[in-house]
Amino acid sequence: MDKRPIGIFDSGVGGLTVLRQVEKLLPKEDIIYFGDTARVPYGNKSRDTIIKFTTQSILFLLRKKVKMIIIACNTSSSLALDSLKIAFSLPIIGVIESGVRKALESSTNNKIAVIGTKSTILSRSYQKEIRKVNKNVKVYVQSCPLFVPLAEEGLLRGKIVEATIKMYLKKIKDKKPGAVILGCTHYPLLKKPIADYLAGVDIIDSAQQVALQAKALLQNKSLLSQRGGNKEFYVSDEPAGFIKLAKLFLKREISGPKVVNV
Ligand code: DGL
Repeated sequence: MDKRPIGIFDSGVGGLTVLRQVEKLLPKEDIIYFGDTARVPYGNKSRDTIIKFTTQSILFLLRKKVKMIIIACNTSSSLALDSLKIAFSLPIIGVIESGVRKALESSTNNKIAVIGTKSTILSRSYQKEIRKVNKNVKVYVQSCPLFVPLAEEGLLRGKIVEATIKMYLKKIKDKKPGAVILGCTHYPLLKKPIADYLAGVDIIDSAQQVALQAKALLQNKSLLSQRGGNKEFYVSDEPAGFIKLAKLFLKREISGPKVVNV
């Protein structure tokens, strides 16, 4: 039994989709969430900048004495996770591996599509992870930069959403993949219209998968907590926007995120 909290990091508010799944699966764990709201979005930034910002954020969580860290941000998972694993000794997991594992199980035709931010797609992180396991899988990728602002505006259905989904996903739909990985924290909010458009394709939500991976890891290392469940939220910019969006991403109110300078 280990009562230290789990740290969850995201570039902003989107990682609350991961926190939501983690708290469902691990209700007795304390969680410290840090969203780098002053510097979001990461999805169109360079590798060096993403590594620098992510490392500073991880150092903040380490000062909070967390027992493991989940990198909820797909962009950070794609570009910074490898360096973080070398630099720090505590368990750190990202969202790529678990999403890929599930997609490989789900796709029955050896075709997988991945959608994400520009930096995630450019990094080829998902292709590399898929190839590690199965070289015969065809991977189709598409960056969908407008999905993040749509989700943050609460525009989750209707004509604008449908037109944007069609614009980005038409080519992918034509390839008839067996599974599509939602490779960005915000995309689970658009899961329904994406699933409707891609009719019949398995939609893989990395948030659910990484929560399962976190639970398995804590179990294996005997780090599970028997009581707790407190959540603390930290952000790097004024919290009003975060509190408002938290309702959308977490489906409940949160109280008092604290502002920190990392
Ligand atoms: N959290 C980012 C991701 O999952 C999306 C928002 C951003 O671009 O920072 O890739």
